Amino acid sequence: MIVDQLGRQFSNLRISLTAACNYACTYCVPDGKRLLAADAELNAEEMIRIVRLLIAAGGISKVRITGGEPLLSPKFDEILPAVMQLGLKDVSVTTNGQLVPRKADLIINSGLRRINVSLDTLDADKFRSIARSGDLATVLKGIELLRNAGLKIKINMVPMRHKNEDQILPLLDYCLQRGIELRFIELMNMGHLQHSALHDTQFFSMQEILDLISSRHTFARADAPFDSTAARFEIPGDGFFGIIANESEPFCRTCTRLRVSSNGFLYGCLSNSKSYDLREVLRLPEALALAKLQQRLHSALRDKQTVSFRGEVTVMKFIGG
Ligand code: GTP
Ligand code: 5AD
Repeated sequence: MIVDQLGRQFSNLRISLTAACNYACTYCVPDGKRLLAADAELNAEEMIRIVRLLIAAGGISKVRITGGEPLLSPKFDEILPAVMQLGLKDVSVTTNGQLVPRKADLIINSGLRRINVSLDTLDADKFRSIARSGDLATVLKGIELLRNAGLKIKINMVPMRHKNEDQILPLLDYCLQRGIELRFIELMNMGHLQHSALHDTQFFSMQEILDLISSRHTFARADAPFDSTAARFEIPGDGFFGIIANESEPFCRTCTRLRVSSNGFLYGCLSNSKSYDLREVLRLPEALALAKLQQRLHSALRDKQTVSFRGEVTVMKFIGG
């Protein structure tokens, strides 16, 4: 078992199928231009082999399929069912929801039990001004299709001052009425936001979110898995919500996440651009591949931040939010 001085180990793999996205969200890209696929992205077969190898070499028991936007990649149709067959404790997908209506049958038939959908507003005009593409009604339709099929849904919202903070309470009501867990994500100081006053202007803190919610609801802190990104709260009788407080309540000390980018690089930390090329591992026969991968995992674990997210130059979009 590979464990660091803080007792952290990798158990949670996030694999990005493609760097491409069909949105151009303001917090992700500066110029409204959509992200394109990375050069030399791995194919489905290579990605599935990497997942298998990481399960064997690194004790991975949970896999999250991410992007860019993972449903945009034709590989999704092959990789999701294959990953579902690996006997993992937990499989999930993070999506912006735009292609869910088109992929709903595939998702439901794969046996996936839960999915996280990014949604920053219930207002169609605000939706266009944040995502700069796509269509709100299609996302809401996708959520209903999956909910009716019994999938557990979480919605991720990034509240931004002067942009969508007025959507916090409407989105919370929408989610509570549907048994969906809404998580508010503190705007992260990464990518183009890192050296920009925009981050400080738009940043809406955990305390501000809680103050706003307390004007309508009574809530109490609830249990969360030890390596959860989110602090969880219960509104008795109504449901749960969470806050992913990267700045106010960082969670690096319990982080179990490992990332593989769409072009086959291993990252031990979202806040560190250091990475390890796995294509050399893919060229090796099984036993040598496992040994090499273990070396890489030791290095990647040392790359983890100890205290808090520092907004490395690495951008979430490249290594899968
Ligand atoms: P659950 O297993 O459902 O709790 O999912 P998750 O929160 O681990 O995954 P999701 O893809 O829904 O991520 C939601 C948000 O958590 C991301 O958009 C990031 O803001 C944040 N996040 C995910 N991974 C990391 C990480 O390694 N470090 C930090 N600082 N934030 C992360
Ligand atoms: N701050 C907070 N969340 C971000 N995401 C991407 N960039 C940022 C950022 N700067 C998250 C959002 C989005 C998901 C794909 O990644 O939750 O929904």
